[in-house]
Amino acid sequence: MPDKKYIVAFDQGTTSTRAIIFDQNGTIVGMAQQELDQIYPQNGWVEHDPEQIYTHQQEVFAKVLKENQIDVSTIKAIGITNQRETTIVWDKTTGKPIYNAINWLDKRTKDICNELKKSGLQEYVIKTTGLVIDSYFSATKIKWILDHVEGARAKAEKGDFLFGTVDTWLIWKFTNGKNHLTDHTNASRTLLYNIIDLQWDSKMLKTLDIPLQMLPKVQASASDFGTISVGDYKIPIYGVAGDQQAALFGQGGDKKGVAKNTYGTGCFMLLNTGKKPSFSKNGLVTTLCASFEDRKVKYALEGSIFVAGASMQWLRDKLQMIDEVSETESICFNTTIAEDLYVVPAFTGLGAPYWDMEAKGAIYGLSLDSGKNEIIKATVQSIAYQTRDVLEAMTADSGQLMKVLKVDGGASANEYLMQFQSDILNVEVDRPQMLEVTAFGAALLAGIKAGLWTKQDGSIFRDNNTLFKPQWNEHIRFKKYRGWQFAVERTKTANI
Ligand code: G3P
Repeated sequence: MPDKKYIVAFDQGTTSTRAIIFDQNGTIVGMAQQELDQIYPQNGWVEHDPEQIYTHQQEVFAKVLKENQIDVSTIKAIGITNQRETTIVWDKTTGKPIYNAINWLDKRTKDICNELKKSGLQEYVIKTTGLVIDSYFSATKIKWILDHVEGARAKAEKGDFLFGTVDTWLIWKFTNGKNHLTDHTNASRTLLYNIIDLQWDSKMLKTLDIPLQMLPKVQASASDFGTISVGDYKIPIYGVAGDQQAALFGQGGDKKGVAKNTYGTGCFMLLNTGKKPSFSKNGLVTTLCASFEDRKVKYALEGSIFVAGASMQWLRDKLQMIDEVSETESICFNTTIAEDLYVVPAFTGLGAPYWDMEAKGAIYGLSLDSGKNEIIKATVQSIAYQTRDVLEAMTADSGQLMKVLKVDGGASANEYLMQFQSDILNVEVDRPQMLEVTAFGAALLAGIKAGLWTKQDGSIFRDNNTLFKPQWNEHIRFKKYRGWQFAVERTKTANI
């Protein structure tokens, strides 16, 4: 019998931490998962405990090996994929974070962003970092920590304090403080990285008073990030990518023109635009795709929607309208709602294409017959409407009419949502059987570097897909989407 070989993906997301084992055929052999505590110290603030992120990652790794009786020596490489932008600063001597991780959804740095906008920096930021000035990205979160933790800036200047997104934190912890590294995809989400020159941008660092010494070294997504020791055995970390770029890669999106939409806590549509960056005129951002040591980087246009799956958790945890998110599917199939009922889930402002940090969530069209199921259905629909907003922007920017949208992530399991998505977009929605595409993308990067797979192997999972085809006529589609646009207009507080 040939030797078994496995690749493990660490998938550290906004709400959970997972370890997933893939065999050589790209089949999932085992998975372990733990929920991550969400800390809300004040209105609009969202934090995580960095120590918990690390210990949970260790625990799920140990658990998945044990439960599936996998000998550690059969693991050829590890790939890390992570929630992006979330910001951690720690003391390199003690290894302790100096503040909680400030999550990507956190809005505390709105004022810093407004100041930056007023200073006329927006154009420079777009052309250099590919992003827009928004509290979503890491830079203003780093500044906030350095401004608010006593003595932090001086220590960071001396090189005593380090910054990292979650990938960097995990690499540093797992390599016992040896490696302070990140990859192109994660660096491109900080608002500090020049995506044309591929280096940290001195003007952005100076403007925000962030010392260069605290930033990690940036390298290709499929490259050597160090080793994780399990007893005497050392497993190389050969793949690192932000979750959305990992999903694009896992969907076969290494090719120009391929787009995917991942339904997670938020919802993120990425279109590979090839080796030259293209800049949006319609509220999208430009970001780096998963990269390789032996070739030039590729770029993607991204539409970042902040609240998708998070709105399902809101229905469950805050409104207590459901016990399980999976219940929403049958509720949607069995409920008819008024045509003008819309939920705009701007719970953490609005991301692409509006970039309105001040907006708050709203419900429009309530009447005496609007009950819990109606609100649930309108909330599910809001995920699809937001995706249409982003697709409109992508079509306008790329000049390409999309025929098929590849989807993945938790909420893509919802058959009602996928059919509604296809109907509202007038585009076929293509869902793979294996929805763990983010983890697969990270595993694939690591497996390629380990020599187990090739760049073309992304297609090995493209069997047994489900295709949802549009069923509405144009009149219904137009009317429903117009109603949504009115609702968003009433919710917005600012114009970009
Ligand atoms: O940019 C934020 C994104 O990386 C978070 O992904 O899967 O937690 O919604 P997710």
